[in-house]
Amino acid sequence: MKVIAFNGSARKDGNTALLLRTVLAELEQADIETELVQLAGKPLRGCTACMGCWRNKDGTCVIKNDSVNDYFEKMVAADGIILGSPTYFADVTTEMKALIDRTGMVNRANDDRLQRKVGAGVVAVRRGGSMHTLQTLQNFFLIGQMIIPGSSYWNIGFGREPGEVAGDDEGIKTMVDLGRNMAWLIHKLGN
Ligand SMILES: Cc1cc2nc3c(=O)[nH]c(=O)nc-3n(C[C@H](O)[C@H](O)[C@H](O)COP(=O)(O)O)c2cc1C
Repeated sequence: MKVIAFNGSARKDGNTALLLRTVLAELEQADIETELVQLAGKPLRGCTACMGCWRNKDGTCVIKNDSVNDYFEKMVAADGIILGSPTYFADVTTEMKALIDRTGMVNRANDDRLQRKVGAGVVAVRRGGSMHTLQTLQNFFLIGQMIIPGSSYWNIGFGREPGEVAGDDEGIKTMVDLGRNMAWLIHKLGN
C-alpha cells in the first residue's frame, strides 16, 4: 500500500509540507508507505490544450520536458493521492493547477486510470480563501472517480511564516484524523 503526496507550494518545507507530513506520519503508522513530492523550484507548465493525450491515449502528456509524466506514473502506482497547496489569492498555486490540469486530462483521456483510488486535499492558509482552495483540489478527485475520506474538520491549517501552522492545534488534529481515516479506507478497499 502506498500514498503519494504532492506539495504545490512555491516554498519548499513550509506550512503545506508540515501539514502533509502530519498526514503521512499517520499513514506510516498504519503500515502504508508514503512519498512526498515538492513541486517548488521545478519547471511545470500548464496544459496547452493540444489534446495530444486524447489522440495518443498512451497514458502520457505530450509535453516531455518536465516531470508531469513521472508524477502521473506515481499516481497510477499509488493506492492514495494527496494534493497539498497553500492558498494563493483564494485558490491553489499555479504549479498545483498545472499538475491538476495535465494529469487530470491524461487520466480522462485514458479511461480514468486513477478510478477508485483514495484522494485527499490539504490546504495551508494565512487568513481567507482556504475553502475554495480545498474545493479546487477535491474537484480533481471527484471527476477522476476517486474516493475522498473526511476528517474532524475541513483539511485546513492556519499559518503565514514557514512552520507557523504547527501552532494551529485544531488544524494539526484535522491532519491526524485525516491520515487515520485515509489509512482505514485504503485498508478496507484493499485494492
Ligand atoms: C502569492 C501569494 C498569495 C497568497 N494568497 C493568500 C490568500 O488568498 N489568502 C490567505 O489567507 N493567504 C494567502 N497567502 C499566504 C499563504 O497562503 C500562507 O503564507 C501559507 O501558509 C503558505 O504556505 P507554504 O508555507 O506551504 O508556502 C498568499 C501567499 C502568497 C505568496
